[in-house]
Amino acid sequence: MKHEICKLADIPPTGSLIAPFFGREVHVWRSGDRIRAAANVCLHFGGPLDCKDGKLVCQWHGAAFDMASGDRLEGPAPKASRLMFLSTRVEDGSLNYVWGE
Ligand code: FES
Repeated sequence: MKHEICKLADIPPTGSLIAPFFGREVHVWRSGDRIRAAANVCLHFGGPLDCKDGKLVCQWHGAAFDMASGDRLEGPAPKASRLMFLSTRVEDGSLNYVWGE
């Protein structure tokens, strides 16, 4: 099954797009040739993330995550935590969340 997240044309060349996702939000960005999508949720207490200087940084207590690997870089989120990436597929000019395939 699939669910459209956004149009490819709406994803900026740098930074991220925040798209609605089943009543929540996801960040969508270009990482080299790939397009990545991750829940807009910090792995500490669930705060919202801002895209800053190539990192996703939590608004609440400052945890920072690498946008290529998803790894926590600093801050109070657990050391081994990673961004919650979505499984996606590009099709017909859209980025789709896919599951159960
Ligand atoms: S909720 Fe994100 S650093 Fe605390």
